[in-house]
Amino acid sequence: MPKSEPFDKYSSEYDSWFEENRMAYESELKAVKHFLPESGDGIEIGVGTGRFAGPLGIKHGLEPSANMRAIAKERGIDVVDGIAEKLPFDDNQFDYVLMVTVVCFLDDVRAAFTEANRILKNGGVIIIALIDRESPLGQMYEKHKSKNEFYKHASFYSAEEIKNLLTESGFKNPQFIQTIFNNPSEISKLEDMKPGYGTGGFVVVRTIK
Ligand SMILES: C[S@@+](CC[C@H](N)C(=O)[O-])C[C@H]1O[C@@H](n2cnc3c(N)ncnc32)[C@H](O)[C@@H]1O
Repeated sequence: MPKSEPFDKYSSEYDSWFEENRMAYESELKAVKHFLPESGDGIEIGVGTGRFAGPLGIKHGLEPSANMRAIAKERGIDVVDGIAEKLPFDDNQFDYVLMVTVVCFLDDVRAAFTEANRILKNGGVIIIALIDRESPLGQMYEKHKSKNEFYKHASFYSAEEIKNLLTESGFKNPQFIQTIFNNPSEISKLEDMKPGYGTGGFVVVRTIK
């Protein structure tokens, strides 16, 4: 069962976070954009309300929550129903796949990465953005997750674990950048972006099929 129920129930509240934490959002967008191919046909898996696919110009999305899909559609994204572990797409179809803050909600990350590998063309890239469990922010989210409607069912991963799962799923040459070094609610200007991982709460990894 996909962990999409709280997102379905509180889709507007989820979407408002990005307005309420504008500079944290802009910092995350910048980090994802840094690794996004400038051309080609891409898809965001677990596209949510389209807060990343929309401004990044990604035309396709997949999302199990109907209410999240409805908002993403308003942002002009062609969204289909489905789950990352069983993608309704042909082999070798896309130039890139993006997943932002989705791995912590998946029932089977390995299956999702294997599926992403299948739908990518050879040489295609996967970009995964995650809350790194081992970062100070990740530790704070982990500690307080039982009080958060969205994160109480999340299983946070470390950047290292995601790197290993990507490698096991056939991806190579991982590169990392990190951002969000402060509490998102206290961020009032764009955060730095640094190579690697360890201190930033929001880590982006890019690997190649
Ligand atoms: C934290 S939100 C991220 C949404 C969007 N990527 C963003 O960053 O705003 C996680 C999303 O993953 C979706 N989701 C949960 N389980 C999923 C699954 N098995 N496959 C694909 N998406 C899933 C949820 O419905 C939700 O929209």
